Amino acid sequence: MSDKNLTEVLDADAQGIARAAAILDSGRLVAVPTETVYGLAARADSAEAVAKIYAAKGRPDFNPLIVHVRDIEQAGELAEISDAARSLAEQHWPGPLTLVLPCKPEAKLAGAVTAGLPTVALRAPAHPVMQALLEAVDFPLAAPSANRSGFISPTTACHVLASLDGRIDLVLDGGPTQAGVESTIVAVRADGSLEELRPGPVALAGAHRAEAGGVEAPGQLASHYAPGKPVRLNADHAETGEFLIGFGAVSGDCTLSAAGDLTEAASRLYDCLHRGAASEKQRIAIAPVPEEGIGIAINDRLRRAATPPD
Ligand code: TXA
Ligand code: MG
Repeated sequence: MSDKNLTEVLDADAQGIARAAAILDSGRLVAVPTETVYGLAARADSAEAVAKIYAAKGRPDFNPLIVHVRDIEQAGELAEISDAARSLAEQHWPGPLTLVLPCKPEAKLAGAVTAGLPTVALRAPAHPVMQALLEAVDFPLAAPSANRSGFISPTTACHVLASLDGRIDLVLDGGPTQAGVESTIVAVRADGSLEELRPGPVALAGAHRAEAGGVEAPGQLASHYAPGKPVRLNADHAETGEFLIGFGAVSGDCTLSAAGDLTEAASRLYDCLHRGAASEKQRIAIAPVPEEGIGIAINDRLRRAATPPD
């Protein structure tokens, strides 16, 4: 719990951003839109502030956080930037690519941010609101997705409130987010090789997928993004008691994309899951989504949504 029980919601205009900066400065929590999903931000240099993220989300303490930075220069204060890492950052920042890099021992980061790992996950986001906030404060922002741990990620301010109302100080409402699925996470090894720890909007040629369940990606839990009811994948019709999420020719109670467009499907994925979770139906069924392009990230999230919690 943060200091108070009331969650403020403000438009993400200059006034809202100034208020958010002041709240972050005092070590409290603000949900902020990014180009992927809403993040739950706290100053990354404060152990107390970072502890509030774990408490508000009910997040296990072995699951480290992504640190959001303005640019490569600020990233360089926190991590060793190899040539391979610099080249990736130059190509994809600002944008939905998170780089896992060796943490600098002198980095001003709360220990809980990296959950004791020798690496830190960094990304420079492209969303103008998150960028304005990073300009307004003089510390980097730790920000996981703004949802209770294990539940569906938020792509609107309303989704944030559905799971964190009363547990955080402020939501900056910047409208629905664009990409809809979380950033691609890539670990850059000392020899320059790349390991993809989480598929996302940025596809990297030459990155190989990490083994499922590896210690390197502690947050990649088998059950995640869970709507709180059973989920059936690859459905071409709804059975009794099912809320059907369609795609392409399979129409349903709502659709990821009637046109079968994967980019649209990614942007609507979590909203459809939130609708299914809120519906009166006891179960959710989801049409098949092609395993190509951003469909790989969509299917990764759907498999975890369909895996019951331990
Ligand atoms: O698009 C995104 O990445 C969003 C927005 C808010 O930026 N953030 C997000 O954060 O998805 P979160 O906490 O939901 O996911 C962060 C993932 C977790 O799976 C965590 O295990 C992994 O990043 N991670 C963080 N630090 C890591 C590290 N040092 N090594 C390996 N994985 C790490
Ligand atoms: Mg998350």
